[in-house]
Amino acid sequence: MLDAQRVEWRDECASTNTSLREQAEAGAPSGRVLVADRQTAGRGRCGRVWQSSPEGSLTFSVLYKEGEGALSGLSLAVGLALLRALEKLGARALRLKWPNDLLCQKNGEDAKLAGVLIERAGDAIIIGIGLNLKAPDLPGEVTAGLEDCLETPAAKPALLAAIVGELDVMWADFCARGFAPLCADWQAHHVWQGKSVRLMEEGRVLAEGICRGVTDDGALRLATADGERTFWAGDLRLRAGEH
Ligand code: BTN
Repeated sequence: MLDAQRVEWRDECASTNTSLREQAEAGAPSGRVLVADRQTAGRGRCGRVWQSSPEGSLTFSVLYKEGEGALSGLSLAVGLALLRALEKLGARALRLKWPNDLLCQKNGEDAKLAGVLIERAGDAIIIGIGLNLKAPDLPGEVTAGLEDCLETPAAKPALLAAIVGELDVMWADFCARGFAPLCADWQAHHVWQGKSVRLMEEGRVLAEGICRGVTDDGALRLATADGERTFWAGDLRLRAGEH
């Protein structure tokens, strides 16, 4: 279990990322964890809303003080740490989607199980994780809950301890060596490695090509008609006809 001193567990807050950021600005130490059973203004990537419910999700943020190295690839490292923690608990058929979604296979489809939102506040890094325990009903999205890929349910405190334990290991390693040593394992779990994909940004197609994986610092590699290109942002989609 986690040291109780470092964890604050609230019934409700607007966004654990926002609240932990305020705590960081007020001098909270590295390692602090804030969990909320309900968020009233949970935030996702690209300004999207993140929906959660007390019985259907585990939503929390962890504060780390910035290490010496660059942060490129951190969101991928966090996704991999999350996957490793859940696999150790027995979850199966987990996949990663660039840059930082965790998916699981459900009824033959890749369904979103968790998302990661990383923000910086001065020398502090806030890592926010939203993990579905039950699949939320979201129009136009294929979603999954941990109950879809884990036979024996785990209580929220045990889940939190497992994930934060893996994040702590990842953070120490990432500060020392960056993303490069994690690259091969990340690619081995990448859902659309070698597939024909489309990279989108605000409804616009940025690029299309074969997904070649990621660089040692976490950029997406696409083999396009104009040769290999790398990208730092965007939403990845599978192109029609790919399975
Ligand atoms: C995404 O996939 O768009 C990222 C979702 C991240 C959601 C988590 S829930 C805990 C933390 N607090 C927030 O407001 N967002 C993150």
